[in-house]
Formats: sequence, structure tokens, C-alpha cells
Amino acid sequence: MFVSGPVTARIFRSFETVAEEQELISIADYEAAARARVQPGALAYLDGGAGDEVTLRDNVAAWGRLAIRPRQLVPVGHRDTAVTVLGNVRPHPLIVAPMAFQRLAHPAGEAGTARAAAATGAVMCLSTLATTTPAALAQAVPEVARWFQVYVFSDRGVTRELVAQAVEHGYEALVVTVDLPVLGVRERELRTKVSAPVSEVHSAAAAGARGSLTPAEFTALIDPNLSWADVERLAAESQLPVIVKGVMTAEASRLAAAHGVRGLVVSNHGGRQLDTVLSGADALPEVVEAVGDRLDVLVDGGIRRGSDVIKALALGARAVMVGRPVLWGLAVAGVQGARRALEILLAELDVAMALAGAPKATDLDSSFLARAPWSGAP
Ligand code: FNR
Ligand code: LAC
Repeated sequence: MFVSGPVTARIFRSFETVAEEQELISIADYEAAARARVQPGALAYLDGGAGDEVTLRDNVAAWGRLAIRPRQLVPVGHRDTAVTVLGNVRPHPLIVAPMAFQRLAHPAGEAGTARAAAATGAVMCLSTLATTTPAALAQAVPEVARWFQVYVFSDRGVTRELVAQAVEHGYEALVVTVDLPVLGVRERELRTKVSAPVSEVHSAAAAGARGSLTPAEFTALIDPNLSWADVERLAAESQLPVIVKGVMTAEASRLAAAHGVRGLVVSNHGGRQLDTVLSGADALPEVVEAVGDRLDVLVDGGIRRGSDVIKALALGARAVMVGRPVLWGLAVAGVQGARRALEILLAELDVAMALAGAPKATDLDSSFLARAPWSGAP
């Protein structure tokens, strides 16, 4: 299913016309445009979720179940989206979620996404299952603020080498994903038999495999026996702060805090792992209550509007990860498209802050929220 070479380059280079770029004004527009362009197998991988996709849909709907309680006559002529994450001030709370095999969406791949992140001041989180190595990405886009997402391979030597590369090449944090001991049951992927190319990194983990592997074959290289002790060891040994991604409960959050972790991403992996778990929006409050005073809590899943971002911050998240919207942008128009997707969210965030009467992102707290009287996204 992976297509490379001149055909893809012609189809996917960038916006075909200026008019096309101007027509795409929301994340939903990019979603629809990506669907019309991406090969069926790649689209199944990008868009799909696990099981009946209940959680996939609910990730979006859950933000819609929260209503905003706006303040009026608050001076909002000057607005500041800055947040502090892991002790560093960032210009805004958007972080590009780690997503594997980005060349399935566009030949620009992870370097394209990183350029879009750099242009908009977003942090780029590179996946272990990227189509580029941490070193190559850092060399291609040295200006991007970057984190490295760690999947611990059964071959620990490969993981050690990847982490060392990340440390050496200016990555600022390690994001250890803990919700994928095995791959979720993803029927869209099974039906289209998508596969992705084996890179240098993965051929080391897969005992010299060449050509293409399915996501299930790739994820079979990940150690299903990872434990909190392993996370603690990684946090102690690496010079970088460790964030655990994929925690959904107060209990797991307290364990994370007890094992040397600096932050958490409340995440159900974009609805791709265990179906019918809670949405990020619904799981976030109990995690913030349990460890929000000790750890930096982030959230992801279903962020499609700037108003979703202010709800996440109001619930106590320090920042949000954005997944598919960036890949939809990348699929539609490479770097420019990924950049537009981030710019749309940032512009909406700015308007939402002004209209909610929260000129600073750090003003937001739970007093800005109410349970909506409607159910799901109306
Ligand atoms: C992901 N996600 C993911 N997470 C991770 O820790 N490592 C990975 O390699 C990947 N790969 C991946 C590929 C694709 C195509 C998608 C869509 C997602 C999950 C991702 O980081 C994030 O948790 C969700 O995508 C957030 O949900 P939204 O924003 O896509 O709704
Ligand atoms: C995914 C993995 C690889 O969600 O993280 O596809």
C-alpha cells in the first residue's frame, strides 16, 4: 500500500491552487480533503480506530459535551497563549502527537510535520515507528523543539541506541507510550492490509527484516512485558525528563508519580487500542485531581477546535497533543497543509480565549466549564 516515487510526488506535492488552500478553513475540511486523496490502505491506518470505534468517536464527542461559561468585559485586547511544560515556557499549548509511518500520508513524512511544527512554534514528538531516525530528523529540521516517543523493543539494545540518539540530537523529553503492549484490533487495517516500509531502525529491531511490514508486524517487536520498574530505570538512566503517555486513571497516575516520571499524557491512543475506554476529556479530571500538583498532565484525543483546547486547559491540562489533524494537513498539502492545520487550531484558540474572557491561557480553570445540556457534539 505504501506508494513512493514520482506518482505520489505529483499527486501530493502541495496545494494545487491558492483557491484550494482558501477553501479549507477548518480541521473538518482537511479531514474530508485527506479522505479524498489518501490511498485506501494508508487512510485505513491513519483514520481508523479499534473495535467498533466507540472510543474513536467519543474522543471528539466528549469535548462537545462540555460547555463554556464565558466571562464578559474582561479586557482581551492583548492575549497570551503561552504555557509552561516541563519547566519550559512554550508559545502555546499545541504539541504534535507522535504518529508512526508519516510517509504513508505524504512523502514529506516526519520532516514535513516537523517543519510545520517549527513554523508554528509547536513541539514535535517523533514516534519510535517513524519513517526517519531521531538523528536524521534533527539534522533535517534542527530548529524544531522536539520530544522522542519511546516504544521499548524486546531488543533493548535497539531502544538504548535510539534513546542515546535522541539525547545526543537535542530532544528535550522522552515520551514512553504504555498503552500498546499489543496492537488493538483494527478492522479497517485488517481489511485493507496496509503495510509500511522498514527503516534502518526497525530492521535492527526486526533482525534484519527488509521491505514492508504491517503495523501488527511492527508492533510485535515491542516488549509486551514492560513494567513500571522499566519506566523508572529509563527515567533514572536517561538525562531527559520522562513523560508517560497512555494513562487513563488516578491509580496509574499515582504509580507514574511514584516511579520518577515528570509528566503524563492522558490518552487512549486516538481510539486505536482498547475500544470503549473513556475519552481523554472524560478521564482527565481524575488524573489531574490525583497528580496534577506533582506532574505535568497533558491530554490528547479528538482535539479538532480551538475551543477543545481551552476546555482541556480549563480541566487542568498544561498542553494538548494533536494527532490526526496534522496528518490530514500533511496528506493534503505536505508541509504547507500540516502548517495550516496547526494555524487553524491556533487562530481558533485565540478567538476562543478572547470570547471566553480568558486573555491568558493560564487564566483557564474549571470555573470556565459546565456540563452541556446536550449529549455529545450537537
Ligand atoms: C498514532 N498514535 C501513536 N502514539 C504513539 O505513542 N506512538 C505512535 O507511533 C503512534 N502512532 C500513531 C499513528 C497514527 C496514524 C495515529 C492517528 C495515531 C496516537 C497519537 O499519538 C495520539 O495519541 C492520537 O492520535 C490522539 O488522537 P487524535 O488527535 O488523532 O484524535
Ligand atoms: C499506532 C501505533 C503504531 O497507533 O502507535 O498505529
